[in-house]
Amino acid sequence: MQFKVITEDTFKIECDAIIVDIYEKTDKTTSVAAADAALDGAIGQLIESGEIKGKLGEVTLIHTLSKMKAQRLAVLGLGKKEDLTIDKVRGAVAGACRRLRKAGVKKAATVVLGTDADLNASEVAQATTEGAILGLYQFRKHISKEPDNPGIDEITIVASDKGQVADMQKAVEMGVIMAEAGCTARDMINEPGNQMTPSDMAAMALKVASDTGIEVTVYDKDWMEEMGMGGLLGVARGSAQPPKFIVLKYNGGGGKNVGLVGKGLTFDSGGISLKPSEKMEEMKGDMSGGAAVIAAMGAIARLKPKINVTGLVPATENMPGGAAQKPGDVLTPMNGKTVEVINTDAEGRLILADALCYANELKLAPVVDIATLTGACMITFGTICSGVFANNQDAADSLLKASKATGEKMWQLPMYDEYKEMIKSNVADIKNVGSRWGGAITAAQFLAEFVGDTPWVHIDIAGTFHVEKDDGYLVKGATGVSTRTLIEMVLSLA
Ligand code: BES
Ligand code: ZN
Ligand code: ZN
Repeated sequence: MQFKVITEDTFKIECDAIIVDIYEKTDKTTSVAAADAALDGAIGQLIESGEIKGKLGEVTLIHTLSKMKAQRLAVLGLGKKEDLTIDKVRGAVAGACRRLRKAGVKKAATVVLGTDADLNASEVAQATTEGAILGLYQFRKHISKEPDNPGIDEITIVASDKGQVADMQKAVEMGVIMAEAGCTARDMINEPGNQMTPSDMAAMALKVASDTGIEVTVYDKDWMEEMGMGGLLGVARGSAQPPKFIVLKYNGGGGKNVGLVGKGLTFDSGGISLKPSEKMEEMKGDMSGGAAVIAAMGAIARLKPKINVTGLVPATENMPGGAAQKPGDVLTPMNGKTVEVINTDAEGRLILADALCYANELKLAPVVDIATLTGACMITFGTICSGVFANNQDAADSLLKASKATGEKMWQLPMYDEYKEMIKSNVADIKNVGSRWGGAITAAQFLAEFVGDTPWVHIDIAGTFHVEKDDGYLVKGATGVSTRTLIEMVLSLA
């Protein structure tokens, strides 16, 4: 899809559809007033009859009957003017684009949405770009039938002020990189488990590397044994697929070396503590954290910030094969702490333990890990918001600030010492499961055992890694959540 930013009389632009914006319970916006004049009052009538209410995401398609160069006008509701945010623009654009695609639109144009609500034109340009790319995303790789519609291939953003164009163009470029990274993560996560094995994840990392010039090293089982990665090896025992430990390096200079660690569990059957079969297929997405890291690394390499970033992805399946680890087994991750495996389904923390130890050995700081870690986090936040946990408030704050910019909702939970008591074991230093209660926090406390004093933040995306239906810029299936926030955070640290 191509994006352009131009200044021109909106209604002289040749395209299949033009998007103008309207708010709830207000008079016509500048863009609607102009369109209404060009269409001899047609929009005014629709407002009067109550067909156009301006609710957030409402799309009314009007044929212009040659009164404009564009064949159709899409009046896009943005909700109450005083409540409008950049993230709402991102979502509304996505819905509007899907609607236009359904109508067969190939070339679309849009005014700078939210101008009457005083949103920043560059931020709107970026959000418009991201909303369009993320909202039009489809995963059709394994569908033989051709899509009904060709899809939108060009979007023109019409700026009202020539002086804004250069900045808006830069913002569009940023939006393209951000959104494409999100889609790369989604592609990996939506891929079935038999086609996104640990080796396939490694191949994806190598592909991202060859596209962008980052350094990628893929380590195998022998190396893990040398390193003493007892957690990752313990989980991998039950699977016929060889585990991989993927390291991605971006060298942008500057003093810092930030660590991004992603759970790369390419299929979580639960292992011997087998999961129920209902919805088990969703566990192909248990590598969402790893996908976010790989995709974010690619985007960071495209954006070239002055900072060093190292991505670590421990990748394995969790399967109940004959050699699988068993409840009651004791494992020893890299830092020598012994772990009693109470439940083989609490495997994410076992593979992350080694990756976090390795991050420490590389002296990465701060370290951010991303994982579909606990059903408990999903019970807390539903599918709306990801959980954040940290041993360092500065690190947490820079992540939370980044998440505000990207619209990926995140909320921090406490790490009181009392939760540590819940993972003490009778037979080893710690166990991999606490009690039934506070499961997202005890999981985070488990991870904290392997980060030492390094400033560290953990994001639990178990509830947010996929959605059941199209919703704004999220499309049924993988969300790619945290990819854009990781990029944003790294840029802010540079
Ligand atoms: N991958 C799951 C967590 C998960 C649940 C991700 C729902 C996405 C959606 C994780 O490995 C797991 O199975 N966790 C267990 C831990 C329990 C055994 C302590 C859980 O949350 O039930
Ligand atoms: Zn599990
Ligand atoms: Zn898992």
